[in-house]
Amino acid sequence: MAATMNSEKSKVLVVGGTGYLGKRLVRASLAHGHETFVLHRPEIGVDIEKVQMLLEFKRMGAKLVTASLEDHRSLVEAVRLVDVVICAISGVHIRSHHILLQLKLVDAIKEAGNIKRFYPSEFGTDPARMKDAMEPGRVTFHDKMAVRRAIEEAHIPHTYISANCFAGYFLGGLCQPGYILPSRESVTILGEGDQKAIYVDEDDIAIYIIRTIDDPRALDKTVYIRPPENILSQREVVQIWEKLIGKELFKSSIPARDFLASMKEKEYAEQVGLVHYYHVCYEGCLTSFEIGEDGHGDEVEACQLYPDVNYTTVEQYMKRYV
Ligand SMILES: NC(=O)c1ccc[n+]([C@@H]2O[C@H](COP(=O)([O-])OP(=O)(O)OC[C@H]3O[C@@H](n4cnc5c(N)ncnc54)[C@H](OP(=O)(O)O)[C@@H]3O)[C@@H](O)[C@H]2O)c1
Repeated sequence: MAATMNSEKSKVLVVGGTGYLGKRLVRASLAHGHETFVLHRPEIGVDIEKVQMLLEFKRMGAKLVTASLEDHRSLVEAVRLVDVVICAISGVHIRSHHILLQLKLVDAIKEAGNIKRFYPSEFGTDPARMKDAMEPGRVTFHDKMAVRRAIEEAHIPHTYISANCFAGYFLGGLCQPGYILPSRESVTILGEGDQKAIYVDEDDIAIYIIRTIDDPRALDKTVYIRPPENILSQREVVQIWEKLIGKELFKSSIPARDFLASMKEKEYAEQVGLVHYYHVCYEGCLTSFEIGEDGHGDEVEACQLYPDVNYTTVEQYMKRYV
C-alpha cells in the first residue's frame, strides 16, 4: 500500500537510495509521510537487483527520478523537484568509495538554489574530529571534509549526521574487523577491549535522520546519534552475546602494536577499514568527547531531540544472530 503523503512535510530526494543505508532512508522517508524521490542513475544498466528495488520503492509511493551524477543538467532538474536532498553514496572502501562524487551534487544544489537542507554522505565517525587520523584510513575523513567545505562555501543549508557504528558491521562481528557474523566459539579482543563505542541499528539511523528534516534545531548542525544504552565496550558486547547463547567464548587478545603491524600485509581497502577500527576500538574516538563541549554549539544529540523514538538496544539487535 502506498504511504500517505503530508503536503506540509518537505519533499525529499535520496541519492544512493539502493545502498545499504540509502534503502533504509527511502523507507523511513516514506513511512514519515514525506513525498519521496529516489535518484535512478542510468549507469545501473542491467543491475536487476537495483532495478527491482527501485520498482519496489515506486510501489510503496516513491517517485523515481532519472538523473546522473555525470550529467549536471539532469541533476539540477532532479534537485529542483524537492526541498531536501539526502545523499547516501558509498563510502566504505571494501564495498566502494565515491564520496568526492558528491562535489557534483553540491554544484547542482548550488545552481538549483532551492534546497532547504542537504545531508552529505557521512553517517559514521565525525570527520571534523578526525584531523589526526592515521593513513590510509584518514582518506574517508579527508574526503568527507572536502565535501563539507564545498557545502559551506556554497552557503547550502545542511545537517551532518554522525551515526557512530553501524550495528550490522560492528555487533555482527563482535567488533572484530573482517567478521559480520558472531562466533559461538571464540573472539579476539582488541587490546583490553574496554574502550566504549556506540552501536546503532541502521533502521534507527534512518529514522533519526528523517526526523531531523523539518526540525530547525538540526539546521546547520552536526547531529550525533548516541543511544545511551548502546554505549558499550567490546567486552560488554561479547558479554551480551554470551548471555544470549548461554555460553562463554574463548578469548584471545591482540595488542595495538600487533594490530597495526598486521595491517601492512593487507590490501589498501582493508587497511582503510582497519584504521577506522583502530581509532574506534583502541583509542575510543567515538566517546572521547562530550557533544557541544569547547564551544561546539553547532552539535546536538538525536536521542535527546527525539526521546519518543524507541531505539533498538544492542541486546535486542543481537537476538537476530542467536
Ligand atoms: N558508521 C559506520 O559503521 C558505517 C558503515 C557503513 C557505511 N557508512 C557510511 O554510510 C554511507 C553510505 O554507505 P553505504 O555502505 O550505505 O553505501 P553502499 O551501499 O556501498 O552504496 C550506496 C550507493 O552509492 C551509490 N553509488 C555507488 N557507486 C556509485 C557511483 N560510481 N556513482 C554514483 N553512485 C554510486 C549507489 O546508489 P544508486 O545505485 O542507488 O545510485 C549505491 O547503492 C557512507 O558515507 C559510509 O561511509 C558508515
